[in-house]
Amino acid sequence: MILSPSLLSADFTCLGQEVEHLETAGLGWLHLDVMDGAFVPNITFGPPLIKALRQRSGLFFDVHLMVEGPARYLADFKAAGADLLVIHAEADRHLQRTLCAIRALGCKAGLAFNPGSDLGRLRWLAADIDLLLLMSVNPGFSGQSFIPQSLDKLRIARALLDEANARHVPIQVDGGACPENTAALLEAGADVLVSGSAFFAHKPYDARLATFMAAAAACPAHTARPSLAEALTWRHHRDAPCA
Ligand code: DX5
Ligand code: ZN
Repeated sequence: MILSPSLLSADFTCLGQEVEHLETAGLGWLHLDVMDGAFVPNITFGPPLIKALRQRSGLFFDVHLMVEGPARYLADFKAAGADLLVIHAEADRHLQRTLCAIRALGCKAGLAFNPGSDLGRLRWLAADIDLLLLMSVNPGFSGQSFIPQSLDKLRIARALLDEANARHVPIQVDGGACPENTAALLEAGADVLVSGSAFFAHKPYDARLATFMAAAAACPAHTARPSLAEALTWRHHRDAPCA
């Protein structure tokens, strides 16, 4: 399992220190929730904040774009230091083109689905994605309750990807993840767990990471998945453009 802590639940008065603490605690990824006030009923931050954090961090930046028409901003997020750009299936009319544009910039391309969205189109996009994100809450806020139907959806998503010759594509789940549901999420097909409130409420971060990893050990089978092996190879490359 990879744990990607969501910055949204960090202490906003000292974000530079927070990302440094995450790195020294042994985290490898950072989940950055970009909200535009149109796709979701909340506004967070954009490329300038990501660029500032990039000066302090070598973490793999997992940028979740909850933004209408994300194609307009891809180059800005790449220049700010994003490693993975995840767009929403509901927010773009030309998904295949936008996913290809993300890859052409040198980023990993992720596709996200809201809890109420059908996964049917995944079949036509599986070859163009590096990661699938399933929302297990309705996007917009941290601290919401996990939607239990997400477990069935995870199983269906894994089967769809496998049928589409995309066994190597990792699945990320975002919303309401915690040590108590970690084993069930992994058993259902998750490779990467995003955690905001359930992670940041417990310090120190190395102990909290250990708690999640201990919970993951209850589902040892997940470690054999090609999709997890793939995601474990992803790193931030410091020579990437960071203008
Ligand atoms: C919700 C965001 C999530 C959120 C997760 O719109 O995309 O990443 O920060 O927070 P928790 O883990 O508290 O549900
Ligand atoms: Zn998110």
